[in-house]
Amino acid sequence: MKKMAAEKAVEHVDNGMVIGLGTGSTVKYAIKKLGERVNTGLKIEGIPTSLRTKKLATELNIPLVDLNDYTKIDLTIDGADEVDSFLNLIKGGGGALTREKIIAYHSKKEIIVVDETKVVKKLGIDFPVPVEVTKFGWNATKKTLEELGCTTELRTIMDEVYITDNSNYILDCDFGKINEPESLEKEINSIPGVIENGLFIDLADEIIVGSKQGIITLEERCLQ
Ligand code: 5RP
Repeated sequence: MKKMAAEKAVEHVDNGMVIGLGTGSTVKYAIKKLGERVNTGLKIEGIPTSLRTKKLATELNIPLVDLNDYTKIDLTIDGADEVDSFLNLIKGGGGALTREKIIAYHSKKEIIVVDETKVVKKLGIDFPVPVEVTKFGWNATKKTLEELGCTTELRTIMDEVYITDNSNYILDCDFGKINEPESLEKEINSIPGVIENGLFIDLADEIIVGSKQGIITLEERCLQ
């Protein structure tokens, strides 16, 4: 289901485009497909959202450029941890949320690829909101975040504290069902020490869902 959705998104890629390359196990299929197309003549330039994706794209011979050399990206393809019917998202399960959000913001079009398990009625049901925070004062930031009504966990990987590509920590913040994601996104980001959070509001233009029945495309206009 992941592969089906990811490969469908690559059909939107044309010669000459600058493509934002997302992070995660779903979008990996899209990047591999792009690599195949590049090796048979497609001319694109990619901007990776993580060091992992940069490595993969380099191995696949996808030419890469720096975001600082472009103010607009034609199309970004990325994954998500949860998507709702307003095309709002929780992202950052792979820890790349800050670069992913910067790239999404600067993209003319953002396509999200997921399998059907990621589609929820309300964000927060199955997945906490990842929040990237500075190492300095992280425990004070954690306590302030908890005052917003969540339980928090410092992300670790193999018993070591997880460090992002930007050399920060991640606090996974479980709010349960989130009724007002727009205001929560802003509230979280107003806390000093917070770099960015994984609520992506109004950034996705299209969500391609791989399901047992085949591909379902969610677009904002057909949902409101
Ligand atoms: C990384 C992300 C990923 O896109 C998200 O975690 C989905 O990953 P996967 O496709 O592996 O389920 O936001 O920061």
